[in-house]
Amino acid sequence: AQNAREALYIVSQYAAGFFSEQLWNGSEGRAVGLSYFKERGFREDIIRKFELGYSPDSWDALINASKAAGHREAYLESTGLVVKNEKGKLYDRFRGRVMFPIHNFTGRVIGFGGRTLKTDKNVPKYVNSPESDIYHKSNVLYGLYHAKKAIRDLDNCYLVEGYADVLSAHQAGVENVVASSGTSLTTEQIRLIGRFTQNVTMLYDGDAAGIKASLRGLDMILEEGLNVKVLNFPDGHDPDSYMHLVGAGAFKHYIENNRKDFILFKADTLLKEAGNDPIKRAGIIRDIVESIAKIPDNIKASVFIRECSHLLQVEERILLTELNSMRAAKF
Ligand code: GTP
Ligand code: MN
Ligand code: MN
Ligand code: MN
Ligand code: MN
Repeated sequence: AQNAREALYIVSQYAAGFFSEQLWNGSEGRAVGLSYFKERGFREDIIRKFELGYSPDSWDALINASKAAGHREAYLESTGLVVKNEKGKLYDRFRGRVMFPIHNFTGRVIGFGGRTLKTDKNVPKYVNSPESDIYHKSNVLYGLYHAKKAIRDLDNCYLVEGYADVLSAHQAGVENVVASSGTSLTTEQIRLIGRFTQNVTMLYDGDAAGIKASLRGLDMILEEGLNVKVLNFPDGHDPDSYMHLVGAGAFKHYIENNRKDFILFKADTLLKEAGNDPIKRAGIIRDIVESIAKIPDNIKASVFIRECSHLLQVEERILLTELNSMRAAKF
C-alpha cells in the first residue's frame, strides 16, 4: 500500500509539472492561462511559488503526456486526474482550466483545484480532485505548506475561503494564511491549525454565505479550544478582491486593525438583523452565550461572559446562570 501511495504522489507531481509547463511554455497556456492570472493581478513569483498551471482544452493532453513519460494509467485514474467513461475510455478531468496544485503540509502534491476561464453560469467555477488514497479533503488546508513557518512565528493563522485569497495574501506579504477551500471547515482542519498556533482569524467573504460560514466556523474553533477572531470585508469583497482593490499596504493594515473578537462579531452581525426588537435581542444574547459555552476552559469562558455583559448591558450574574445551564445540558 505504501508503494501504491508513493506512485500516486509521483503522478500528481508529474501532473503539476505538466500543467506548469503548459502555463509558461505552451502556446494555449500562455495565451489563455498565464494571461488570466496576469489580468487578475498575480505576480510571476506568486504564480511560481504555488506551482500554478494550465490544463489544455483537450480530452487527452495529460493522458498522452503521462503515458509518454512512462506513467501508468491506473495511477492517473486513482488520483482522479483522468476519468473513465461508460465505454471504458479514459479522459482528462481538467480541461481548459487554470490549475492550483494542492500540497499536503510536507509539500507533496496530493490534488488539484481547476478554475474555469468561462463566465458561463452553467459551468462549475471550480472543479476539484476527488478523494483518493493520498487526498482526504477534510484534513487538508490549502496553503499550509507555504504558511506553516509564518503561522508558528506570528502565532496566528488567517483562515480564508478560497485559493485566490491565499495567493493574494502572500502577494501582500501576509504568509500565515490557509484556505478550507471546497469543503466547509472541518474539525480535522481546525486540529491541524492547532498544531501550529492556538489563534485563528477568520477572513471569509463579505457576502451572506461567508457570514453564515463564519458563524458556524467560529463555534467549531471555540469547541476545539482555540481562540478565534473574525474580520469582515466590505460590500461583498473577499480577501483577494479587496487586496487588488486597495493594494498590498492598505490590505495588510486593514486585516491587522479590523479584527473583532467573536463576541463583538456575533453581536454586530446579529444585532444588525434584529434592530430594536427586544425578543430578538434576547435571542441574540442567548446565542452568544451558547458560543461561550463551547469554550472548554472555564476561566476563558468567564472572561468572555464579562465582555458580553458589558457589551450588551446584561447583568453578568444572569449570563453566568444561562452559561451554567447550557453546560449542564451538554453532559
Ligand atoms: P475566484 O472567483 O477565483 O476568486 O474564486 P473564489 O475563491 O472567490 O470563489 P468562492 O468565494 O465562490 O468560493 C470559495 C472556494 O470554494 C473556492 O476557492 C473553491 O475552493 C470553492 N468553490 C467555489 N466554487 C466552487 C464550485 O463550483 N465547485 C467546487 N467544488 N468548489 C467551489
Ligand atoms: Mn487513506
Ligand atoms: Mn464566496
Ligand atoms: Mn470568494
Ligand atoms: Mn474571489
